[in-house]
Amino acid sequence: MNEKKVVLKAEKLNKHFGKKHIIKDVSFDVFEGEIFGFLGPNGSGKTTTIKMIMGLLDIDTGFVQIGGFDREKNFEDSLAQIGGIIENPDTYSYLSGYKNLEIYSRLRGKVDKTRIAEVIKLVGLEKRIMDKVKTYSLGMKQRLGLAQAILHHPKVLVLDEPTNGLDPAGIKELRDILKYLSHEEGIAVFVSSHILSEMELLCDRVCIIDAGKVLKTESIGQITDSGNNESDYEFIIGDESVALQKIQEIMPERYRSNTQNKFILAANEEEVPEVIKMLCSADLKIFGVIPSVRTLEQSFMEITGGGNVIV
Ligand SMILES: Nc1ncnc2c1ncn2[C@@H]1O[C@H](COP(=O)(O)OP(=O)(O)O)[C@@H](O)[C@H]1O
Ligand SMILES: [Mg+2]
Repeated sequence: MNEKKVVLKAEKLNKHFGKKHIIKDVSFDVFEGEIFGFLGPNGSGKTTTIKMIMGLLDIDTGFVQIGGFDREKNFEDSLAQIGGIIENPDTYSYLSGYKNLEIYSRLRGKVDKTRIAEVIKLVGLEKRIMDKVKTYSLGMKQRLGLAQAILHHPKVLVLDEPTNGLDPAGIKELRDILKYLSHEEGIAVFVSSHILSEMELLCDRVCIIDAGKVLKTESIGQITDSGNNESDYEFIIGDESVALQKIQEIMPERYRSNTQNKFILAANEEEVPEVIKMLCSADLKIFGVIPSVRTLEQSFMEITGGGNVIV
């Protein structure tokens, strides 16, 4: 990952609205070909940061570089490297999807018919592209917005909460398209969300923001595994009340928690056979042993100290 090129850089961004300090020293690097999640609860500063990146809001202090170009010093060159959807994509609903793409393409310079056909295929709108946009589902409108955003071959694609309002099928379609664009086409995808489970399925790395501050930027694997030297294992044991009493007698230091007949016990992998032996000697029946993996949600709760999380 370190050899990869940084295509979007935010360095110590700060923003005030009136006297309120909203964005506080926000920094991150986004690499080519990755899906980078910007995860934080509502009101944490995601949209404000994204507007600063896209050139829609002035930056108080700090800087943004897109494809190596400074957003302030090289405004047009930097914006040529980025495409995005912020809040609802703008479309003429009484025109066809195709006409919308043509108009947008003209705004960007010239109409490149080959590229228009290419993006229609990428977002899977071939069958419906000649229909009026007002007949599209929300998911189709999102995909048309995505097609607009990548028409000019940007190096970075920025999407602010793109799954809002989509049904599970629409979310899966969007996820597949974004994975293709990043992993196959090499575009860096920057996507914000307040929904942990979606980020876990979609992103390669996640930057967690809360109250305008970056708390952590890590790969999904690191976030779900970190600090897990002594792993926890889930032991499925028959007869809950007897088991609870015996576990507290023979290995109180290992006991973590239980729900119904599932007990979470602390053990390293190599200790598991020993723990099983001890449980069997105490006449407990073991129906299964499962390594318990920390979820992004648990990590998020630990990092932010809990609260305001949607799973
Ligand atoms: N134009 C504005 N004027 C004053 N406060 C604003 C403005 N835009 C956003 N805010 C405040 O900034 C904070 C961050 O908002 P926002 O970036 O929209 O968060 P998010 O996108 O993470 O939900 C919120 O407290 C919001 O009320
Ligand atoms: Mg927002």
